[in-house]
Amino acid sequence: MDKATMEGLVAKYYADPRAREARAEPFEFWSALRSFDPVFHFETRDQWMVTGYEEMKQAGAFPEFSYKRSSKCPYDPGAPLGRSRSLLRDSFMLFMDPPEHTKYRAAVRRTFSGPTARSWRPTIRGWARDLVRALPRDEEFDFVSELALPVPFHFTCQLLGIPFEDWHKIKQYADDFQRLFLPNPTEEEDRIGDENFIKFCEYLAPYIEDRESGRVVKDDLLQEFVEAKQRGDFTADEVAMFAQILTVGGHETTTALFTQGMMDLLAHPDQWQLLKDTPEMIEQAVEEILRYSGPSIQMQERYPTEEIMLGGHLIPKGATVVTHPSAANRDPRVFDDPERMDITRDQSNLAFGFGPHFCIAASLVRVEAQEIFSAIAEEAPGIEITQTEPVEYSTLDTLRMPLSLKVRIPS
Ligand code: HEM
Repeated sequence: MDKATMEGLVAKYYADPRAREARAEPFEFWSALRSFDPVFHFETRDQWMVTGYEEMKQAGAFPEFSYKRSSKCPYDPGAPLGRSRSLLRDSFMLFMDPPEHTKYRAAVRRTFSGPTARSWRPTIRGWARDLVRALPRDEEFDFVSELALPVPFHFTCQLLGIPFEDWHKIKQYADDFQRLFLPNPTEEEDRIGDENFIKFCEYLAPYIEDRESGRVVKDDLLQEFVEAKQRGDFTADEVAMFAQILTVGGHETTTALFTQGMMDLLAHPDQWQLLKDTPEMIEQAVEEILRYSGPSIQMQERYPTEEIMLGGHLIPKGATVVTHPSAANRDPRVFDDPERMDITRDQSNLAFGFGPHFCIAASLVRVEAQEIFSAIAEEAPGIEITQTEPVEYSTLDTLRMPLSLKVRIPS
């Protein structure tokens, strides 16, 4: 294939990256792009697309990258923004560099550490089993709304010390919040964004007050937020925005992982059987689900602050470099027969990214996924897909998330 043909293929992908095909089966495209050049300069957009595994790791390791979007902010930098959108622009850790970025990561380090994740395992195991046992038997139901979506909210509610019964409310705030990511907002959209954010702040306020007054003390995320606020590291608005970002960032990725992972395991009955027969393989199995079914299509953009060399290309200062973990995770130079799901592999993957912005919740998500898939294997081993129509996917730019999946569990 020549450069012009490849450029045309990428342009076709970007012309409608939300098309069902691009979401459901992007791997042929990724494979063509990666084998053409794992660091491809897409000239139409003047953007460098990193689809190779080692190249993505190198990009994560370079200290010469900035993640700040100030000059590339989707909103007109001169335009007046509402309260919530300005806050989002200024306090989204994914788009930060040190020292601000370091402050955000430090504020939640305890909650998201490996030892904390491990200490949560018995609790997560308990409610994972309860949720799976409570699923309908002998009738069709939606795996997403009945299991893959409530699980991350269970988790978020526990992290924030709020009742799980409120999860629909929290989801509504999270869904409305996503409007803030729309580029070039109108005044009306800003107003709606602000109203929703105020509602979320009001919802959270009594829980924060309980912690501040010392009436309630728990070892969770809300406690860490309150401590950071008391140290003067964050304002009340910043705490609420941080909580909102974690709620949004945390649920769709995890829902996507559970649903696509379940689909892929059931599409590979030998692998599903192997997991059921050897439950001690769960950690490896989840790593393979992260690699093979991993939901992150496109990771964040980063901008070299100096001219850098990557994949044999001299990339100029200020260029846009985008890494693609789901492509890198199927790089044949690293994984044997990468398009095959194989839970016996024992290799690390890049589903949670690489470098300073490595997913803060990776340890917790791993425990959560291990417990959910173990619970399904044990409590609902006969689960089967009953959906006959093609699965619809989310149109979010960054995710490969099935919106619903009809299944049945024989009793
Ligand atoms: C299957 C589930 C998940 C996947 C695949 C995933 C993936 C990712 C990826 C690829 C990044 C960017 C890393 C980079 O740029 O190097 C990221 C960052 C992040 N993730 Fe996750 N994530 C998941 C779940 C969660 C959850 C449950 C939470 C919160 C409760 C969360 C919070 C974050 C945050 C706050 C960041 C930004 C970290 C920073 O900027 O330093 N993620 N995640």
